[in-house]
Amino acid sequence: MMARLVRAAQDPIGPLAPTRITLTVDGEPVEGVLGQTLAGVMLSADTVAWRSTSFRDKPRGAFCGIGVCFDCLVVVNGQRDVRACQRRAAPGDVVEFHRDMPLSTPEERP
Ligand code: FES
Repeated sequence: MMARLVRAAQDPIGPLAPTRITLTVDGEPVEGVLGQTLAGVMLSADTVAWRSTSFRDKPRGAFCGIGVCFDCLVVVNGQRDVRACQRRAAPGDVVEFHRDMPLSTPEERP
């Protein structure tokens, strides 16, 4: 099997032009592209930490990027404990950082 280059103009899939979206991250408007995860949008905006540990207040952001470590938790539209690396950004999403907030209990989770 050989690798081959398919130029964008000849790509049979015909990728569409990216759709820009705007969401609010920690009170500031941030632009992203439809299809990006929240972590992708925040990393694109040079935000690398959006949570702090309950022990010693250490900064955390995306670590594994595949939904395993839970280091990337944010509050999205009022819903706590959302993994930013697993949630696709939607236009108008309001993302708040997980500061001074203990993890929710199983009873509090949707
Ligand atoms: S970065 Fe590990 S769960 Fe999101």
